[in-house]
Amino acid sequence: MILNNGPACLEQDRPSPCTLVIFGASGDLTSRKLIPSLANLFRVGRLPDSFAIIGAARSEMNNESFRDVMRKALQDTGLLAGIAWKDFARRLFYYRLDYKQPDDYANLKASIESIEQDLNLPGNRMFYLAIPPGLYQPVARNLGAVGLANSPSDDVWCRIVVEKPFGRDLKSSQELDAALHEYFDENQIFRIDHYLAKETIQNLLLFRFANAIFEPVWNLHYIDYVSITAAERLGVEYRAGYYDESGVLRDMFQNHMMQLLAMATIEPPSKFQSDRVRDEKAKVYRSLRPFDLKNQFEDLVLGQYESGVVEGKRVVGYREESGVTHNSLTPTFAMLRAYIDNWRWQGVPFYITSGKRMPKKVTRIVVQFKQVPHSIFRDILGPDFIAANRLVMETYPNESIRMSFQVKQPDTRLCLRTSSMHFNFNEGVSGPILDAYEKVLIDSMIGDHMLFWRQDSVELCWEFLTPILEMCDECSELEKHIRFYPSGSWGPEETARIYSGYIDDVSR
Ligand code: BG6
Repeated sequence: MILNNGPACLEQDRPSPCTLVIFGASGDLTSRKLIPSLANLFRVGRLPDSFAIIGAARSEMNNESFRDVMRKALQDTGLLAGIAWKDFARRLFYYRLDYKQPDDYANLKASIESIEQDLNLPGNRMFYLAIPPGLYQPVARNLGAVGLANSPSDDVWCRIVVEKPFGRDLKSSQELDAALHEYFDENQIFRIDHYLAKETIQNLLLFRFANAIFEPVWNLHYIDYVSITAAERLGVEYRAGYYDESGVLRDMFQNHMMQLLAMATIEPPSKFQSDRVRDEKAKVYRSLRPFDLKNQFEDLVLGQYESGVVEGKRVVGYREESGVTHNSLTPTFAMLRAYIDNWRWQGVPFYITSGKRMPKKVTRIVVQFKQVPHSIFRDILGPDFIAANRLVMETYPNESIRMSFQVKQPDTRLCLRTSSMHFNFNEGVSGPILDAYEKVLIDSMIGDHMLFWRQDSVELCWEFLTPILEMCDECSELEKHIRFYPSGSWGPEETARIYSGYIDDVSR
């Protein structure tokens, strides 16, 4: 018998000294996520000993004013007090450029080189594109054209990090990929999905493959269905320009929801190594049953939020949001029933749901097991009394795993009750817990692709979703199929047609 209670850890390397260039430095992502994450990594000693962060954007700013704006951003996120600000700030620089102007990149190159010389940096570089996706191609090309995509030697690296969306459909994602590959090799490209960097999502692989008891029942023989839900309380917020063009299928399904699906369903990779894990994910995507276009909305519910009340506050409907067209048919909610046609999952429905303006934020995967094959209690308790086991893996509001099962109620009569084992992810943890952006930033600096999309999977997911998107874009009767739901509800009532347990699963 082996009993080992101590943690078994892989010590992560500290990144080597490097220069991080953030395109879109005056934007929201930089001040809300990137700089706070970098500052926090700096605080807990996870950044390299020496580094430079160069913000690049169109806005008129200089080093000093950029530092002021970032200082304010840290103040707003409550991080400023814990950070050695002067020490952090002296590594922040700003470079003003027009993203589409090739000449600006030659000057950027000179600027990077001079900063690197001053700070004695070796020339490792990471270009982070926190810009609208329409600018990815020109920026990548312009970087390449001035030689900024090349690693000057084997021991110096150069990487590019892109945020989703990776295109709007299969064709545009292939075009984007071709543009990135004009100058960057696949091993230099990091396609971010921040869901993958959430601790509880990463934990899915460890939970499944570091325990012997779950895998034998993790299949069609024991599992009735799996539901994957990302319900959000927020509406479209300040992003109508992007969102109205994308909708929930492009915004949440093509990336986050597909990753959750893969993490719950992949075969065990032979090693915990990025390409082996990513190979298994690609196999899942390749096995997705093509969406049945003949039956169009049989397996799909689309919705859009109307005005309503969320957490006691009156909110406007999607069409009244600033920047949204008044007759927009963009879905803010979707439920999709999907099937994976392979040996393990044949016939098991996967209910994948995401929507905005729900009563509260909930991100969870529910694995519903089948009923016992035969109830020895049927004569006493009736045929349908025994609730089947259920495993709930949750990222939000609690980072937890709950397993429900039946036990005896203490009583002279025979009574069953549902009880559960509850694991709280952050219990018993000491030391800093990295948030998703901190994790992806560190991993891209270290060069670990585990938590990033590989292009084959991006394309397979687009292949699966493009017919649905085209059907939505082209369906002349789309208006008839968009179900409007009040803000503060769990979505259109029609979800019950596809998945009658949905409200129960998401609201419990
Ligand atoms: C983003 C989407 O990728 O994920 C947003 O663009 C969504 O629309 C967000 O709100 C949800 O992320 P999280 O981490 O808050 O669940």
